[in-house]
Amino acid sequence: MPTLIVATGNPGKLAEMQTYLEPLGCQLALKPTEIEVEETGSTFYENACLKASQVAKAVNQWAIADDSGLAVDALDGAPGLYSARYGNTDRERIAKLLQALEGVSQRQAQFICVVAIAAPDGSIQLSTEGICSGEITHSPRGDRGFGYDPIFWLPEHKKTFAEMTKVEKQTVSHRGKAFNKLIHQWPGLKFDSF
Ligand code: IMP
Repeated sequence: MPTLIVATGNPGKLAEMQTYLEPLGCQLALKPTEIEVEETGSTFYENACLKASQVAKAVNQWAIADDSGLAVDALDGAPGLYSARYGNTDRERIAKLLQALEGVSQRQAQFICVVAIAAPDGSIQLSTEGICSGEITHSPRGDRGFGYDPIFWLPEHKKTFAEMTKVEKQTVSHRGKAFNKLIHQWPGLKFDSF
């Protein structure tokens, strides 16, 4: 099994992917810093594929990428692709979202994650999507996790993501679901053909 290059410069993301992919026993490595990929896609799927494909071609190795974000129904899917850029800090992003939803009772939202794997020639060989539905709270709750976790409420668990343990979140989250599907589809990857 070849080493997979992770199309991110973020060591935290590499560590997280390593946890998810542990059952497969595959090796992951960070992409070289000089390779930059612009996220110009108009969907999470397009961005995940773009990142995996461009990095794979640049290093002539297998690559894996993910793209994720939060889509709020009452805001027509915003912040969506711009989830990371909706504000300068997690605190600012949360405050801006709560403000946008002031007086709004319809608070359904989805976290979406797409994972893509590309072969050394840049062709996408596998992609999976995970969706986690919940609601946006009226104020932050919990101090675990990152990003929008403190305001993402899961009614069936009666907790926000930020009130869940790491393992609890992994079993229900968009990212956990996408990687779980990937693990099931992994045996179909034809590593020897490239
Ligand atoms: P990216 O996929 O690393 O580009 O992440 C996009 C952005 O979506 C992050 O910076 C967070 O703001 C948000 N996001 C994605 N997944 C999560 C999550 O599990 N919890 C909280 N925020 C998330």
